[in-house]
Amino acid sequence: DKGIYPYYMLKEIEEQPNVIRTLMKQYLDDKNQAKIDDQIIAELKNADRIYIVAAGTSYHASLIGKRMFEKIANRPTQVEIASEFAYDSYIPETNPFFVFLSQSGETADSREVLQMIAAKGFKSLTLTNVPNSTLAREATYALPLLAGPEIAVASTKAYTAQITVLAFLAQAMADNKVSVAHPLAAIAVAMEAILQDKDHYEALAQDYLVDASSAFYIGRANDAELALEAALKLKEISYVHTEGFAAGELKHGTLALIEDNTPVIGLITQPKTAELTRSNLAETQARGAHTLIIAADQVAHPEDQIVLPSVDSANDDSVVVDQLAILLATIPVQLLSYYTSLGRGLDVDRPRNLAKSVTVQ
Ligand code: F6R
Repeated sequence: DKGIYPYYMLKEIEEQPNVIRTLMKQYLDDKNQAKIDDQIIAELKNADRIYIVAAGTSYHASLIGKRMFEKIANRPTQVEIASEFAYDSYIPETNPFFVFLSQSGETADSREVLQMIAAKGFKSLTLTNVPNSTLAREATYALPLLAGPEIAVASTKAYTAQITVLAFLAQAMADNKVSVAHPLAAIAVAMEAILQDKDHYEALAQDYLVDASSAFYIGRANDAELALEAALKLKEISYVHTEGFAAGELKHGTLALIEDNTPVIGLITQPKTAELTRSNLAETQARGAHTLIIAADQVAHPEDQIVLPSVDSANDDSVVVDQLAILLATIPVQLLSYYTSLGRGLDVDRPRNLAKSVTVQ
């Protein structure tokens, strides 16, 4: 039931702070240690490589997962697009472990990979939002995403839930005692502050995107991966042709597409690359781009259109804080997509040509 909401997507966007809190209750004990089956953690730690296999938005969450597994837990991780890996794989390791990420747990391409690796005798874990789904039943292990039913075709809260559970796995695998608990709790509070300010996002969508024919999201490191998800979210429900790009790569060809008034949205949450992304944005502006900046509080400039609420992180591990920073920036990009679709008079929850659960290969 949509309740007071005009569309499921808005309801699901607003549920995200509580999705994080629900997951913290389920996956962390009162000392903030991860409560995850020891066997699963042992499989992950003993693997000579972890593969994360997914499609679409879940693939984009996997890219963040890889960074967390490597940077927080120092475990080599590879991300594979299910529809590619099913038919063209190279698995040289003797003891790989496979993580399947899927909101629906029914994606046919992912299932094809699961059958292929199971036939080779490799073990797997499915993270899914639908507990009794096919991928959950067929994998060696399964863990729930607990986001509650996601009805809108565009995935929002499942992405946040996936990154959150991957963060718990990273914490549980890490040899040094890092904790994702405080940063996650602080992000949930900061998300609520953004959600109090929806009019701002509606106005920005109107100014920058509703009349656009083509748009870009750019960023570096984790922001480049959020750019992919932000672009998918915008194009799938607004039909504005959008590309997500590693900011530094734009000048190697794609810059030719920037015209007068082309919206270019810069994602800036990572301190080490903030100024570089700004200089890439300036390059697009010099070619006429209509630039919009979404920046984390500690790297924001006063003129940035969207400054994310500050998250008190002084006592937290900076690697963990940087890895999780894009969770907060996810809300603005979802809201921009939502209001662009709404502004263009489209059915936000049911974009053309798409299905919620993709059971064909
Ligand atoms: C985009 C979207 C799709 C799904 C993809 C994978 O908003 O929803 O890209 O993420 O079809 O689906 P699951 O996660 O169910 O395997």
